[in-house]
Amino acid sequence: VIFKSSDYASIIIAQEIAGLIKEKQAQQESCVLGLATGSSPIKVYEELVRMHKEEGLSFANVVTFNLDEYFPMEKGNVQSYHYFMHEHLFNHVDILPENIHIPDGTIPQEQIHQYCIDYELKINSFGGLDFQLLGIGRTGHIGFNEPGSHYNSVTRSITLDHLTRSDAAPAFFGIENVPKKAITMGIGTIKKAKRIVIMAWGHKKAEVVKETIEGMVSSEVPASYLQRHENTTFVLDKEAAEEL
Ligand code: GLP
Repeated sequence: VIFKSSDYASIIIAQEIAGLIKEKQAQQESCVLGLATGSSPIKVYEELVRMHKEEGLSFANVVTFNLDEYFPMEKGNVQSYHYFMHEHLFNHVDILPENIHIPDGTIPQEQIHQYCIDYELKINSFGGLDFQLLGIGRTGHIGFNEPGSHYNSVTRSITLDHLTRSDAAPAFFGIENVPKKAITMGIGTIKKAKRIVIMAWGHKKAEVVKETIEGMVSSEVPASYLQRHENTTFVLDKEAAEEL
């Protein structure tokens, strides 16, 4: 779906999420959301916060799992995804702290493997993700599943691509400060979501958007795996769609 502006597109995405939260509330069920970071979802979160404040949208039944976190990374660090999510969403809505799950960038190296197994189990214990929100990196990554990621990959520690680190460099005041590793949900984790919405805004995403949507399904462009997911919508603004 192509929109004139990313602001308007973000409102439509937020409305879908709010609709799902309310539907689950009516059924007295949890609404399990997979959430993304980066600049792309900021407006979506802004609109959800507005709906909470002005329209009374409650997050009391919402359980969230974030896609990824840099490693190593302190939670209070302004570049952390932990900080990002609290700043843009969690601090402003009535979500219960125990319902928030974000990969932990502070765990000791030797415990990462077990930690990732437990993260998967936790998602499954809530019945899986009802909705997964995604951005896309210029390498074609979703979460931090860089080129080469397997279709069935699960939550794990990965090494970041050079392009991903250079895109993150301004936020870290230099590429030398960008962590070399991250913990990310896998493609296999993401593709089990019942509904996926992936967003891309702006000219600099146009090339990877074309490869993702019109190219072959390939581990070289991990987002292309979504072509095989039966309930995914790619939401674009005009600039991101210009190569299609
Ligand atoms: C990071 C995140 C991804 C995100 C990507 C794009 O790499 N791990 O989840 O999709 O950045 O970020 P942006 O939305 O700022 O373009």
